[in-house]
Amino acid sequence: MIDLKSDDEVKKMRAACSAAARVLQDLVSLVVPGISTAGLDSAARGLMLRHGCESACYGYVVGGLTYPGYVCISLNDEVVHGIGSPSRIIRDGDLVSLDVVVRRDGFIGDNARTITVGKVSPEAKALCVETEKALHAGIAAVRPGNRVGDISAAIQASLSAGGYGIVRDFVGHGVGRKMHEEPQIPNFGKAGTGPKLLAGMCLAIEPMVNLGSHKIIMGADGWTARTADGKVSAHFEHTVMVTEKGAEILTLP
Ligand code: MF3
Ligand code: CO
Repeated sequence: MIDLKSDDEVKKMRAACSAAARVLQDLVSLVVPGISTAGLDSAARGLMLRHGCESACYGYVVGGLTYPGYVCISLNDEVVHGIGSPSRIIRDGDLVSLDVVVRRDGFIGDNARTITVGKVSPEAKALCVETEKALHAGIAAVRPGNRVGDISAAIQASLSAGGYGIVRDFVGHGVGRKMHEEPQIPNFGKAGTGPKLLAGMCLAIEPMVNLGSHKIIMGADGWTARTADGKVSAHFEHTVMVTEKGAEILTLP
């Protein structure tokens, strides 16, 4: 069953998502060479207080493992779920993926963005541009009557010319009172398949795209996913709501 949000729940989703967007926007402005990823993580904690929300990642349990950070910070070949560390220092040339998931008044807002620091390779820059384009191609496929597979296929088609590796082991998801609700939203798939979209559904759409192979490996910490070939990866995410006309992006500051 895919949850349909009531009018009251929609208001709360909007508030949670706009807080998530503000935290992400403010956090982006703090990313400069020399800061550690632990420094960014604790700054994020403060930003959440300021924007009236709390981390939905901190203390999140998957398979008996508890997530120790306030946000996810994944550098370069790290795909998602990187944990802030005092010994990881941001350097010129880094790709920094920031994933901010907050709770406010019982509801979750989820958004992510990859930024480039200083001078990065043209291929890495293009990867970021194309991944964000793919996110918006996916969002453009959101309307009542379309299916989840239409979102997946639009993302995949948007990326088809680049020769990129679309991550398969992590997917987008429904979102609401819980971070991960039904349906799963893969970033590849067949148009016309999967559950039908209805007004009131809230979806976190989040292409994760590798410059090389789609294959990933899990780090020893049990959370950090990185590319198997060591090439860089990008991640863009918005929480959107299906409306009568199409999609409303909820994670705008
Ligand atoms: N946007 C990520 C997701 O949907 C956030 C995960 S937070 C963590 O999976 F706590 F699981 F790390
Ligand atoms: Co998500």
